[in-house]
Formats: sequence, structure tokens, C-alpha cells
Amino acid sequence: MSASSRGLEGVVIGRSAITLVEGETGGLAYRGFRIAELVPGAPYESVIHLLLWGEPPSEQPPSRLSRELAGRRSLPRRLESLVDSVSPGLPPLEALRTMISAMGDGSFGYPPTVEQVFDLIARTPTMLTRYVRRSAGERAVAPRADLGHVANYLYMLEGVVPDPRKVRALEGYFVLLADHGMNASTFALRVVLSTNSDLVSAATAGLAALKGPLHGGAPAKVSDMLDGVGTPENAEKWIAQALARKERLMGFGHRAYKVEDPRAVILKQIAGEVADPARLALAERVESVALDALERQRAGRRLYTNVEYYGAVVLESVGLPRDLFTPTFALARTAGWGAHALEQAAENRLIRPDVEYVGPAPGRRWPERSAGAPPH
Ligand code: ACO
Repeated sequence: MSASSRGLEGVVIGRSAITLVEGETGGLAYRGFRIAELVPGAPYESVIHLLLWGEPPSEQPPSRLSRELAGRRSLPRRLESLVDSVSPGLPPLEALRTMISAMGDGSFGYPPTVEQVFDLIARTPTMLTRYVRRSAGERAVAPRADLGHVANYLYMLEGVVPDPRKVRALEGYFVLLADHGMNASTFALRVVLSTNSDLVSAATAGLAALKGPLHGGAPAKVSDMLDGVGTPENAEKWIAQALARKERLMGFGHRAYKVEDPRAVILKQIAGEVADPARLALAERVESVALDALERQRAGRRLYTNVEYYGAVVLESVGLPRDLFTPTFALARTAGWGAHALEQAAENRLIRPDVEYVGPAPGRRWPERSAGAPPH
């Protein structure tokens, strides 16, 4: 057997025509469209179309797909009661995992269908916002079919039609986070689907993988870090102390990118449009100090700013609370999960890798037990 690769680094596990990640040069393209071609400007619904079918829609946003999604936003009675039965006060991400799993009612069979993908994309924001509002003792806000996907998410959360500047910023975030090749959550989803399990089970696994701070759980920690640093003048000291404690700086480093994450470049521009100038100045100072320190102290590791860094600044600038950062990432990623689910099923083969066995050689003898002695 060939040598093992810890963390499957560099292992090609299959073929995909959805997203190209160019780690050495910092490139990212969906179906051949570089992200700078899509943001700003492309509505999230158009990018869903692109990811699912490989072609941009003829109208922006696509009216048929938008209608399909809008028509599925309202929850069936069963799901409403289910959301209302999740104990209030949980971190929204924990609640979302439970609620996505609870979408499974036996009707999500194998293979996954486009309609099931629409349900996943359309219903998760309604479930999440309903839970968050009820948890805060507020009435749920019914979805509005005349709003775009991203605007409607903010509307259901806040109960007012959102400021178009906020919608534009969050729309850019949703597009940039919509897919990313064979990242851990997509891999988890594809492994589950490859067993001929269903989309809801696979998306639950995807969310479970997304949750960890080495993947999608980092952005709230970026905001915590910025709070911890407090002022630009404190950045050097704070970063030096964190690295001396052997901590990882959240929002830096990436398995695929050995240069700056291209999504971070665009998110920084978006942050420039919506962030409080003092907060942005702090973020830029911390970034520059962190990059210098990582260059000196983690020489050769090639650690640069990743998507989560300015993603956090954008999410806080549009008014999202920190415990909604990773759930919002998950909502954006449902498009990519859906595209990968359909692609996996189209040419499925069970994903079942090998492992390099490093335990004792077989042939060991089991200890003799005297008759009647209790097993231990
Ligand atoms: N701060 C300090 N040191 C780091 C960081 C960091 N952010 N990231 C990696 N390193 C160091 C590691 O300590 C390790 O050093 P060592 O060789 O001396 O042990 C070396 O760089 C390589 O790290 P690995 O964990 O092997 O690299 P990997 O490719 O597995 O990790 C990861 C990528 C998990 C993103 C990592 O860079 C990290 O933990 N970053 C911080 C968390 C974060 O920002 N997560 C969001 C990722 S983006 C996304 O998934 C959407």
C-alpha cells in the first residue's frame, strides 16, 4: 500500500466539474467563472443556478429558480412545530444541526433531487431565523416571496426590510462562500451520499464538519480576537503573546491556499464599504502584524489571510451577532452542498479509503482464563 497522507493532504479523491481551487496562485472559479467576475454583482440565486447546472442563467436573478426557492421558504406545519420544540437558548449552530436533521421525514430518499436541494437551500434560513427569534422571545417573521434570498434572510431575522447596502455586502459573502471544492464539510457530505444515504443526512454531516474552528467555526473567534486586541497599538503585543502561547491565529492559514485566499481579497473590499472605519483600521493593523509574525515565527508554513478573517468583519458590519456567523456560512454553503450532492449521485461509487495500519502484527495470543474466573 502507498504511504499514507495525514489529513488526506494532496490526495485526489475523485473528479468534480464544479469549483476550481488554485492554491498556489490564489485562484477560485465556479464552473469556469472566476469569483472576481461574480462579486460584486451576481445575485446568489444566479450562482445557485451556475453551481447546479453549470451555466449562468439568462436573466439575473433567474426568475424561475427564484420563484421555486421563494415558494419553498414557508415551512410545512410539521417543521414549524419541530423548530418550536427545539429548546430555546441553544447556540444557533447546535439548533440548526438539529433542525436540518429534523427535515428528514423519510421522503428524502436516494438519489437526491434538484427539488430536495431547493428545499434545503430555501428552508434552512426560515428554520434558523424562526428559532433565533423565538429563542429571544420574539414572534417569527414569515418569509416574503418578493425579496431575494439574502434580503429575505435578513428580513426574517430582523423583522424589517434590510438596507440595500447591507444586502449587497451579505450577497457578496453568500456568493463567495457558496462552494469551495473538496473542503471538509463537502467531503463529509459526499461520503454520506456515497453510501446511498439521503441529502438531509448528508447535509447534517456537512454541517457537523463545518462547525469546527479549523473549518467554518473560525469567524466568531476572529471577532473575539479583534476585541481582545482592542486598539491598533496593542496588536504587536497581543499577537506575540498569542503565538508564544502556541495558539493559532484565527483567520490565517489554509490547507489549499499557500497565498492569500482570493475570497479574503474581495471580502476586504466589501468590508471597506460597510465596516465601521475604526473597526476596519483595527482589522487591517492586526492582519499586517499577524502576517509579519507568522512569516517570522512559522517560517516556511506559508500562512496567509483566509476567508474567515474579513468574512467576520463583513458579518459583524451587517449586524449579525457572532453566534450567527457560522450558521450564516452554512446557509451560503447549502448551494455548494446541493451541487456536490447531485454530482456525487450522478456517478456514485462508495467512498471508502484505506488506512495505513500501524498496530501490532497479527498472531498475538489471547490470555488464558482459568475456568470460572470473571472476564475483565
Ligand atoms: N496560526 C498559527 N500557526 C498556524 C496557523 C495559524 N492560523 N495555521 C497553521 N499554523 C501552523 C501549525 O501550527 C503548523 O505548524 P507546525 O508544522 O509547527 O506544527 C503548520 O502551520 C501547519 O499547520 P496544519 O494544521 O498542518 O495545516 P493545515 O493545512 O492542516 O491547516 C488550517 C489549515 C486548519 C486552516 C490552519 O491554518 C488553521 O488552524 N488556521 C486557523 C483556523 C482558521 O482560520 N480556520 C478557518 C479556515 S478557512 C475555512 O475552512 C473556511
